[in-house]
Amino acid sequence: MIRLRKLMRRAVGAHSPRHSGPADQSGILPTNAFEDYESRPPSIQNCIDAIPGWNSQFPPEYDVVAGNRVPFLDDRILWAIERFGGVAGADVLEIGPMEGGHTYLLHQNGATITAVEASKRAFLKCLVTKEITNLSRARFLLGDGVQYLENVEKRYDLIVACAVLYHMRDPIRFLEAAAARTDALYVWTSYIDESALPPEQMASNRFDPMREIREFNGISVTLYRRDYANVYLNPDFCGGIYNEPRWMSRSSILDVLTSLGFNHLEIAHEQRPYPAEHCFSVFARRIGS
Ligand SMILES: C[S@@+](CC[C@H](N)C(=O)[O-])C[C@H]1O[C@@H](n2cnc3c(N)ncnc32)[C@H](O)[C@@H]1O
Repeated sequence: MIRLRKLMRRAVGAHSPRHSGPADQSGILPTNAFEDYESRPPSIQNCIDAIPGWNSQFPPEYDVVAGNRVPFLDDRILWAIERFGGVAGADVLEIGPMEGGHTYLLHQNGATITAVEASKRAFLKCLVTKEITNLSRARFLLGDGVQYLENVEKRYDLIVACAVLYHMRDPIRFLEAAAARTDALYVWTSYIDESALPPEQMASNRFDPMREIREFNGISVTLYRRDYANVYLNPDFCGGIYNEPRWMSRSSILDVLTSLGFNHLEIAHEQRPYPAEHCFSVFARRIGS
């Protein structure tokens, strides 16, 4: 009996320092390992609750409570699918899937999807979504979508970049990399309307008053560097990799796309939610080249 107790002490002792000591420096292990267990019967809601800070609203048939900011059934993506002429059988690359809501829509419409997500937390949420909604033709990759585009050899029928351009440290590099891998690119993005933002209001809108001028394909592009302030501290933060996204103007975005050989641009979803921060959808295609 004494021997058994000794053995048990040794066994517990072998693991306890990792679990009961101070919080693990890597941030992976919880302070209290029991918090890491789910005591409710298995359910898909448990999977959602395992990761805090959801933004997306799942379709009602899944009967789960996640976020309520962005619906899975997003008109912008349905529009992009329609502009492409349907995605059944198409090989689609999605940059920044966040929680996989748009991946779900593309999948539901018959696409095979590679989705590259840079946020570790968002990537795990995508895997939860994949499990819940059974996205058998979707593959999620964790890493920087720009470097993926620059290193991958294959071309995609369609690239979907919804709400990622204005989170890029170098949005021109991103557009250039995407343009090299497809003839059809869907972008929804916010952009800056400088005429509505007097210089003295740049800082209060988290824009660096110093603009950056870049020459690209014979065009002079102004980049407006921004700061996320404290937004990145929220568990539902879904911005970029670096705290220095650069925004472009509407005309610069269109000019750069044109210079990259997209000779057919369709625009939709024009909105002006804030005086100097507007947004729109662009479906860019290379036709007949
Ligand atoms: C504002 S969310 C948009 C999510 C989704 N596409 C949508 O429109 O609802 C931006 C997403 O892009 C991801 N992201 C930002 N920069 C990225 C990069 N360089 N590579 C891959 N994903 C990125 C973020 O982590 C986040 O999930």
